[in-house]
Amino acid sequence: MFELSGKTVLITGSGRGIGLTLAEGLAGAGASVILNGRNEELLVEAVGSLEKKGFRASCSVFDVGDEKQVLSAIERMIRDHGVPDVLVNNAGINIRSRLAETRLRDWQRVLQTNLTGAFLVSREVVKGMIARNGGKIINICSLMSELGRDTTGAYASAKGGLKMLTRAMCTEWARFNIQSNGIGPGYFLTEMTRPLEADRNFNAWITARTPAGRWGKPEELVGTAVFLSSGASDFINGQVIYVDGGLLATL
Ligand code: GCO
Repeated sequence: MFELSGKTVLITGSGRGIGLTLAEGLAGAGASVILNGRNEELLVEAVGSLEKKGFRASCSVFDVGDEKQVLSAIERMIRDHGVPDVLVNNAGINIRSRLAETRLRDWQRVLQTNLTGAFLVSREVVKGMIARNGGKIINICSLMSELGRDTTGAYASAKGGLKMLTRAMCTEWARFNIQSNGIGPGYFLTEMTRPLEADRNFNAWITARTPAGRWGKPEELVGTAVFLSSGASDFINGQVIYVDGGLLATL
């Protein structure tokens, strides 16, 4: 039921962090994975490390927020690998600042990558999924799809939007046997959250605020990603599953 052999999965923003861990986990469940990012060197290295473990991996270098790049990269990808069976919209950035001090340029960059990027890549991939009458889209949301936090206004706006985009995708594409769901990670240790971990007060607050009493490890997202990529989730649509050690359940 959870088998992914013969499936091709595109994971955006997968040169490192949660994206790379998900790529490795999905490859471990049998999928061929296509990594993506803006940094070619990082991606080539990541593909090499996956191949060394016996997995099938390739990469496609493009910026998810750049429409021209998305159009030509997805066209080439479909020519080389066919339409991906699963698309994981994972690419994300954060520029932390208080709203009253946030520059328009930073606001736009955060929205462009986290929200517009997911829309653009999905729009190009879904055409093939519709033609094939099947596919899975997984949007990597956040606790910030539900909650605000000081200095994360742009990020929370983008991630809240991504949750609603997930519902919009479900509304329009479920009839084509396409399941669009989200994963909402709690606090996970990656390069992006390193400044949060390094801040002693913040770190203490997170471990106290999370019922599990600790940060998550990126591997702990793999089971949910495999589930949402597989036939086991064929009648689940428009949902966000929070993998957060219980944080959202607790004040
Ligand atoms: C940040 C954000 C992110 C995530 C958080 C909860 O400041 O970078 O809060 O870290 O949204 O991990 O999902």
